[in-house]
Amino acid sequence: MKILVTGGLGFIGSHTVVELQNEGFEVVIIDNLSNSSIDVLDGIEAITGKRPIFEEFDLRDKSKVQNFFKKHNDVAGVIHFAASKAVGESVENPLLYYENNLGVLVYILQELKQKEGASFIFSSSCTVYGQADEMPITEDAPVKPAESPYGNTKQIGEEIIRDTCKVTPDLKAIALRYFNPIGAHPSAHIGELPLGVPQNLVPYITQTGVGLREQLSVFGDDYPTPDGTCIRDYIHVVDLAKAHVKALQRLLNDKNEDNYEVFNLGTGTGSSVLEVIHSFESVSGKKLNYRIVDRRAGDIIQAYADTTKANEVLGWKAESTLDDAMKSAWEWERKVRS
Ligand code: WQD
Repeated sequence: MKILVTGGLGFIGSHTVVELQNEGFEVVIIDNLSNSSIDVLDGIEAITGKRPIFEEFDLRDKSKVQNFFKKHNDVAGVIHFAASKAVGESVENPLLYYENNLGVLVYILQELKQKEGASFIFSSSCTVYGQADEMPITEDAPVKPAESPYGNTKQIGEEIIRDTCKVTPDLKAIALRYFNPIGAHPSAHIGELPLGVPQNLVPYITQTGVGLREQLSVFGDDYPTPDGTCIRDYIHVVDLAKAHVKALQRLLNDKNEDNYEVFNLGTGTGSSVLEVIHSFESVSGKKLNYRIVDRRAGDIIQAYADTTKANEVLGWKAESTLDDAMKSAWEWERKVRS
């Protein structure tokens, strides 16, 4: 069965392609290589023994999207990762984010609307909850006003899909709200490749560990948490990838109760910034050079998932520990820099 994975050469996309191929799906990737490398295809092939079909183009070109679906009219499902994801950049250039993340979404849904029984999986984010009032966060927690155009594209993206599903009973969709994806494939054939200076904690830690950055700045240790640093739900990217396969199978097998559903994807456990640093130190055997600095604007205090719905309905549970994830991130970083 043929599945389209947009952004399939990116961090979460590439790990999902591996899990799809391991489950016997035929994968077609569309990627414009704007934040990924063609070499990722080699990594996927090294792990699975199979090279996915690859089409390089920018999904903002509507005629190319239309032609793609004409050519691949046997696509049974779409997992849509292709999007811009830098919060700061989205503040500087909101229209780029609305075009990339929402314009493209509309083009793809317009194609799927014409198909019989298409399945669609959307990459959403825990960012839709903002600072939730209660921990752990369930899917019923209110969606808070977005802090950035990026966050807004995830909220509006969900609404676009929900509204489209309402009037298109044939279309089945799931939005997956990721908490903080980290780590790499344990083979070290694929992993995260941030452009420039990483904004996210874990790649900054591993780049500091390998000597590419001098020192990690820990943004604040005066938060109302046990050690004063912020708490997040860090989930191994391989666990996250497996959840996509479960979600897709639910739709393909007509097991969904509603034609639009939402799931949190996290481990259910919160870890502080200092706990992540200590995990890195324990799996790498290296002391990390870090110092405490001022809080970063816009950071929430804590966010971790209630994963009951994904556990029970998708039959999925994150299996890796924080140490497993940090170890894989470290092995990937060392391989990339060697
Ligand atoms: C994690 C923790 C920082 C870097 C991101 C996205 C957001 C959403 C979720 C996608 C925080 C601290 C970080 C550093 C630090 N993703 N930190 N020093 O903030 O949860 O948000 O993931 O939809 O949109 O931006 O992740 O990895 O940036 O930060 O101390 O150099 O690490 O303050 O507490 P965050 P992050």
